[in-house]
Amino acid sequence: MKFSKSGPLKGTVTIPGDKSISHRSVMFGSIARGTTEITGFLQGADCLSTISCFEKMGIQIENTGSSVLVHGNGLHGLKAPEQILDCGNSGTTTRLISGILAAQNFSCTLTGDDSIQKRPMKRIMEPLSMMGAQISSLRSNGCAPLQITGSPLHGIHYTSKVASAQVKSSILLAGLYADGETSVTEPALSRNHSEIMLKYFGADIRSEGCTASIRPAEELYGQKITVPGDISSAAYFIAAALIVPGSEVLIKDVGINPTRDGMLRVCREMGADIELLNPVYDDGEPRADLLIRHSHLKAMEIKGDLIPALIDEIPVIAVMACAAEGNTVIKDAAELRVKESDRILTVANNLRALGADVDELDDGLVIYGGKPLTGGIIESYMDHRIAMSFAVGSLIANGETDIRNAECVNISYPGFYEDLEKLKH
Ligand code: S3P
Repeated sequence: MKFSKSGPLKGTVTIPGDKSISHRSVMFGSIARGTTEITGFLQGADCLSTISCFEKMGIQIENTGSSVLVHGNGLHGLKAPEQILDCGNSGTTTRLISGILAAQNFSCTLTGDDSIQKRPMKRIMEPLSMMGAQISSLRSNGCAPLQITGSPLHGIHYTSKVASAQVKSSILLAGLYADGETSVTEPALSRNHSEIMLKYFGADIRSEGCTASIRPAEELYGQKITVPGDISSAAYFIAAALIVPGSEVLIKDVGINPTRDGMLRVCREMGADIELLNPVYDDGEPRADLLIRHSHLKAMEIKGDLIPALIDEIPVIAVMACAAEGNTVIKDAAELRVKESDRILTVANNLRALGADVDELDDGLVIYGGKPLTGGIIESYMDHRIAMSFAVGSLIANGETDIRNAECVNISYPGFYEDLEKLKH
């Protein structure tokens, strides 16, 4: 798909629902008693994979496109699937569902696409096995396909080596079914959507610093969920409006949970003009409209505890850093190597293809800002966030940019290119 340099971006964009929250609403709704009504559900391929997995386990799910009704069967109401559970490209589906499957009274196999079959699953296999789960990698390589045989589980305290909400959530979900309290401590706080939503569904769950603890549940109860717009999707429009001269863009109803708002913190420190309008803070997920104006950006160092709060935004932050004054250093982000693609490598390769100066680090990137981008051929590596990040880069490139396999944005943002096009003037 071909892109060229853009004039100012102007207008309003309403971005699709949060991917992490959409997954969780279907999963928790499926194991709750009663109906869960979800509005703003992300109709992206990843979240549809989650729906299809639970349908295969006997859950009735009505997806009208504008709302999703999940008719939960209770904590012990899933049925043995007749087929393999296909998680597609979705790490969240694979890892979270494993925590639930570990405690069922049946055995099943789950797998996904080529990318999923290369992503590390030992990080959930180890703690779930400590809880008593029978979970194995069919090719003995620590990756999917996984065979899971439901077993009685015990509560554990687990100290995770990685700040990963998928690992944390997988253990907490298994903890719902365990015979005592389960807690997880992570090295830095990862997104806490599971903690917020599980509490809403009636679970006995507490958080203190980087530790979340859950007690076994008798039942969860179906709820009404309004999913906010995904800040990880908003990030492309934030970056685009900041770097394209003359831009002013209003992004409606974006989730601004503090465990996800690292992009906003970084942009502000780089000198961005971002206004938060109509903020709503209740005991659920905070949200606000974001007004973004083109700004002169300065480079910064991004590292440490900030990384989990912007992990999915790093590719577009790297693109944005090309337009900043000075050298942006991103460290402590080795997790990027095990995402849908090795995002340190794929970002570095593509930045070079666009004419930028970049160094690859083991755990991050150095982007030498200020060099005009030329345009070039971008390989998405079938990674949705890579395709969208470089569509943003194309807006300030002097020559044409051609993104290969650009349609992979359907994983998290069907309609992305149309929404971007509408803002061009
Ligand atoms: C997610 C957690 C993060 C993130 C992913 C979604 C989640 O992954 O990168 O896109 O919904 O829990 P990790 O838990 O592997 O950091």
